[in-house]
Parts: sequence; C-alpha cells; structure tokens
Amino acid sequence: MTFPRHLPRPRILDQDRVPRLRWGIAGPGWIAERFVSALKAHTHQQVVAVQSSDPARARAFAERMGVPRSFGGRDMLADPEVDVVYVATVHNRHLPDALAAIEAGKHVLVEKPLALNAGEGRRLRDAARERGVFLMEAYWADFLPKFDVIRQLLADGALGDVRTVIADHGEWFGPDHRIMRADLAGGPMLDLGTYPVALATGVLGRPDRIVAAGGDMPGGVNGQCSMLLSHSGGAQSVLHTSILGHTPGDATISGTGGMLTVPGRFYTPGPFTLTANDLSTRLVFEEERNHYAQLFHQAVHLASCVGEGRIESPVRSLDDSLLTLEVMDEARRQLDIVFQEEQPTAHKQAGPS
Ligand SMILES: NC(=O)c1ccc[n+]([C@@H]2O[C@H](COP(=O)([O-])OP(=O)(O)OC[C@H]3O[C@@H](n4cnc5c(N)ncnc54)[C@H](OP(=O)(O)O)[C@@H]3O)[C@@H](O)[C@H]2O)c1
Repeated sequence: MTFPRHLPRPRILDQDRVPRLRWGIAGPGWIAERFVSALKAHTHQQVVAVQSSDPARARAFAERMGVPRSFGGRDMLADPEVDVVYVATVHNRHLPDALAAIEAGKHVLVEKPLALNAGEGRRLRDAARERGVFLMEAYWADFLPKFDVIRQLLADGALGDVRTVIADHGEWFGPDHRIMRADLAGGPMLDLGTYPVALATGVLGRPDRIVAAGGDMPGGVNGQCSMLLSHSGGAQSVLHTSILGHTPGDATISGTGGMLTVPGRFYTPGPFTLTANDLSTRLVFEEERNHYAQLFHQAVHLASCVGEGRIESPVRSLDDSLLTLEVMDEARRQLDIVFQEEQPTAHKQAGPS
C-alpha cells in the first residue's frame, strides 16, 4: 500500500440507533463517578441504580449523581429493571462482583483489567458464555475515536510491516492511594500496565518471549516494571509502567512504511502524528483532550452489541483481555509478584473453582 494522503475518519456510533440500556453501578468510587457523568452528558443510556458494600456510600453517590435507586451489598442484582452492571470496584473484587452480576443474568462491563489474572478472566468468560450475557473489559482506550483511526490505518497497512511498539505509562500516587496496598492487588501492573501491554498485544499479537525487570516498593507492592516482548517475524515491544513517578506516557508504533507517535498519556483522547519513513508526508490527528468525558464510547458500543444480540465485543474481545492478562501474568511470574488471592492459602480458603 502507498502511504495515505489523508487520515480515515473515526467511525462513531449513532446514539439513536443503539438501545437505551438501564445501567446499575457496582462500586461507587472515583472512576464510577466519571463514568456516570460521561454517560449522562453524552448518551441516551440510563443510569438507574447503584450498589455498594456500604449502603450509605451508595445512597450518597445516588444523591450526588442523580441516580434513582441505591442498594447495599449486592441487592441491586435482583432489580429486574437493571439490564447491565458496570463493575467499578477495586481489582480483587472484579471476579466476585462480575461473577455475581453474570449469575444474576445481567450484562457486564468490568473496569480494567478484566480480573487479577488470566485464570480468573477465563472463569468470567466461561460464566458469561454459559449464562448467555454480554461481558467486556472496560478498556475505554479501544473505543476512543483516535484508536478507531489508528486501527483503520493498521488494517490498511499504512505503516507497512510493524516492527516496533514502544509504550510507557508511569504515574505518581500519594501513600494513601489504593495502588500502594498489597491487599488490594496494588502496584502499577493492573492499573497502568494494562495500557502499554494492551497496545502492544493489540498491534503485534501474542509474544513468543517476554523478559521483565522490576523493583519493589516499601509496603510490598511492585514499584515499576519494564517488559521486552518478542513477537513473530522479529517484531519487538518495549514497555514500561511505574508508580514511582510520572513518566511521559508516550507510545510509538513503527513500521517499514512509517511511524505513528502518540504523545502521553497515549491511551487518552488526544492527538497523534503519522509520518512516512521517507519524511515526505506527515499527517496529524487532532482531538480534544477531554479525557474522562470520553468514557461514554465503550458504553454506547456495549449497548450496540447487546442490540445486535452479541455476547462479546468485536472490538475488545475477551481473548484480547485474556492475552493482556497472560502477558502480565508472565511478567509477574518472572518478578515473583503474587497477589494475596493467588497465595496457596487463599486458594484453599476459596475452595475448588
Ligand atoms: N478507565 C480509567 O481511566 C480508570 C481510572 C481509574 C481507575 N480505573 C479502574 O477502576 C477500578 C476502580 O478504581 P477506583 O480508583 O475508582 O477505585 P476506588 O474509588 O478506590 O474504589 C471503588 C470501589 O471499590 C471498592 N473498594 C474500595 N476500597 C476498597 C477496599 N479497601 N476493600 C474492598 N473494596 C474496596 C468500593 O466498592 P464498595 O463501595 O462496593 O465497597 C469502592 O466504591 C479499578 O479497576 C481501576 O483499575 C479505571
């Protein structure tokens, strides 16, 4: 293919052609507030209920965000007027909270990552398939207009053969943040590492080989992790994630035909530049950096899939989510990072799965 002269247009779903689903929120915390705000501002989707392990927290969220019904525990799952549950709890609650919603017959959108590890992710996939409900990881980056354009460019071969992906996401957090807590599966990998790993595996597929280097922090969580991935045909990914401090968060996809650069934070709304290798052409994608306002695209996509009778997304498939987890599992294995739920005693307590 010759180098493109124009960028393709992003394919945005028509709001009027997707069903208005009734959403219930599980885990009324930081991201849930931004998600509900985005849905209310930009979609016809209806947020009708919220649940929390603490009924007062659910009630306060409902009042603050204008959500009609609030529940303590998991009572929301018995509400027949909830079609889909957005699981926005901390990582080690994704499996139990999503499983309960699936078993109640609800469609489920689970915050990233899908689960703590690929084994948990497969349990969720199998449960959703058995129950016939839609399940997707809320990997919102994949649904941004920017990434739709990037996917079209890659599918059209605009970059030629892609040889290299370089991506990083590091962020500083205060000592009280949940990411610092070993008992909440803290460390950068699940919160931040998901983004560079998902980009690399999305572009270059399953790696043949993974080499990881890391370093721990006081308190027992991993502080940073660098990963080298070798893919078929000699392609490589160079990835980094950290909670030791802010890093630029840029991403580069480089091929025999050109280079695509996404300035940090690469996974959020914003610009990118596509440059031909002979430097004859440079195309720039511009997009407002309105960050969490664009959390709504994934919800519209989910509604569209449900309207089409799908139980899995063609954009962020469960295999995509599982591959991300498998890569992170291997990096953690090399660095001896074991979450509490993965300790042998935890398995004994949980019983056979
Ligand atoms: N898409 C994005 O850009 C983005 C950004 C930030 C976070 N996230 C993801 O969203 C999820 C939640 O993150 P967040 O920052 O919103 O979390 P958060 O505000 O700290 O907590 C969310 C919910 O998790 C439960 N929770 C919090 N602390 C807990 C604890 N110590 N023990 C047990 N449960 C606890 C609570 O649910 P109950 O009220 O039911 O107890 C709480 O409402 C994570 O998967 C994270 O990776 C995504």
